[in-house]
Amino acid sequence: MEPKTSFTLATLLLFILNSHVGVLSGAYQYSRSDFPADFVFGSGTSAYQVEGAAYEDGRTASIWDTFAHDGYAHGENGDVACDGYHKYKEDVQLMVETGLDAYRFSISWSRLIPNGRGPVNPKGLDYYNNLINELISNGIQPHVTLHHYDLPQALEDEYEGWLSRDVVRDFTDYADVCFREFGDRVLYWTTVNEANVFAFSGYDTGNSPPQRCSPPFCTTNSIRGNSTFEAYLVGHHILLAHSSAVTLYRTKYRDQQRGFVGISVFTLGFTPQTNKEEDVVATQRARDFFIGWIMEPLIYGDYPISMKKNAGARIPTFTSCESKQVKGSYDFIGVNHYQNVNVSDDYGALNIKLRDFNADMAVNFIYDQDLFSNSEFSVTPWGLQQELDKFKLLYGNPPIFIVENGQRTASNSSLLDLSRVKYFHGYIGAVLDALRNGSNVKGYFAWSFMDVFELLDGYRSSYGLYYVDRNDPELKRYPKLSAKWYKHFLIGRTSSIELVENEKDSSLVSDLGHLFQ
Ligand SMILES: *[C@@H]1O[C@H](CO)[C@@H](O)[C@H](O)[C@H]1NC(C)=O
Ligand SMILES: *[C@@H]1O[C@H](CO)[C@@H](O)[C@H](O)[C@H]1NC(C)=O
Ligand SMILES: *[C@@H]1O[C@H](CO)[C@@H](O)[C@H](O)[C@H]1NC(C)=O
Ligand SMILES: *[C@@H]1O[C@H](CO)[C@@H](O)[C@H](O)[C@H]1NC(C)=O
Repeated sequence: MEPKTSFTLATLLLFILNSHVGVLSGAYQYSRSDFPADFVFGSGTSAYQVEGAAYEDGRTASIWDTFAHDGYAHGENGDVACDGYHKYKEDVQLMVETGLDAYRFSISWSRLIPNGRGPVNPKGLDYYNNLINELISNGIQPHVTLHHYDLPQALEDEYEGWLSRDVVRDFTDYADVCFREFGDRVLYWTTVNEANVFAFSGYDTGNSPPQRCSPPFCTTNSIRGNSTFEAYLVGHHILLAHSSAVTLYRTKYRDQQRGFVGISVFTLGFTPQTNKEEDVVATQRARDFFIGWIMEPLIYGDYPISMKKNAGARIPTFTSCESKQVKGSYDFIGVNHYQNVNVSDDYGALNIKLRDFNADMAVNFIYDQDLFSNSEFSVTPWGLQQELDKFKLLYGNPPIFIVENGQRTASNSSLLDLSRVKYFHGYIGAVLDALRNGSNVKGYFAWSFMDVFELLDGYRSSYGLYYVDRNDPELKRYPKLSAKWYKHFLIGRTSSIELVENEKDSSLVSDLGHLFQ
């Protein structure tokens, strides 16, 4: 695959954009300087998705390795992934080249502490020290996630992982190692990525690690588990583990290290399917079950009323001591956001005897695109703006980092990902609008820095700014148009879609020439 000459690319882009002016006409011009000076722009990956070296230097399997090797990601796996374990130095150079302020990555718990608890693996320690030092010496701020779907398999085997309260102790000890070893250089910590989806899809529908569910709720052929209550229990243990790690940081490290600890939640742009009262109420209920589930304990110390009402005794109760620990246990909230969903009421589901998380929520989700196929996410950025507004109104306007936002497309060696450029342009614009309307957003991380091993799609779908040539034994990376657009925006030029839209702008051709050199 040969990147084309600059002239051809620029001409082609002009052609494509000119034929889409109608689509873009709602867009407006903005530039980096419209954002606050301390607003952070970055991009992210996670350990299992990018590192590879799955059996090297003492690393042991995580529940995600097991999931992939059991065939749940089209028979593909992260054994090699992007070989980031060996290529981190050249990847950091690409980040510099792209103009990133920050890089979001995760630590593989089972690389750092191979049995999940007990001795630290010196080779794992070296790898993360090297990566962090490489980032810092290149002026890139590390944002570190501790758990990104990859609990050590040893703990799953020993006590069923997140289903056991023992995980609170072991997660806190793992966080302690990370704060102690890396906290002199890492200021931003996310405890658990997409806490809500990890619990919901890992333990109700069973289509993500550790693929637990019970019939008739399973969306895969997995049948270990109990969809009726495990997701709630796991959500509860995540909140306890998270808040325990935050308490540890605040008592033992914060005075010296002066960092920030948060947790991330997966959001959708929830929209009522019709403006009928019951659909509007159902939309609020969907938001309670998805987002309030994590946010209300953090803000108020307890689960949303609608959840307690519908799930009854199946949702655990916080003791007053736990409630105090959970309440306020965040310095920021990480928001993962990709697309919108329409919601309609399904209150009748509550009368059916057999119930799970989904049935308790009592809504129907109507997606424009199937979440579970590799179709392309549409560009509906108002959904993100609306959700940020809800965080402002419902959850006390916490400091927020958009930790994931990006467009899924089918994997493609074409570097001309114009739809992804439009996606980023639209969503970064929505973040700016939300910011101007009083939202407390502090940063934005494009998902993903390169094409990685994706949870559900393996290597069949891609979100990357950089294409990874999987037919090349060297796994060479190539910048897509989206990487060039992001760079163009980050180095302080006006968002390039606007430049190309304004054909009469004489700087247009030279700007594009520059962009595609
Ligand atoms: C799941 O747990 C609930 C509540 O403990 C129990 O009533 C139900 O029988 C269990 N179902 C299965 C399939 O084990
Ligand atoms: C979702 O609702 C909007 C109106 O709010 C409508 O335009 C769109 O077609 C709906 N999408 C689906 C998949 O029904
Ligand atoms: C890859 O992208 C090219 C150019 O955008 C497009 O024509 C082609 O259909 C895409 N292939 C796949 C498999 O999506
Ligand atoms: C701005 O915020 C107000 C109050 O939260 C809200 O009603 C309004 O819809 C928001 N406007 C936009 C454009 O998001």
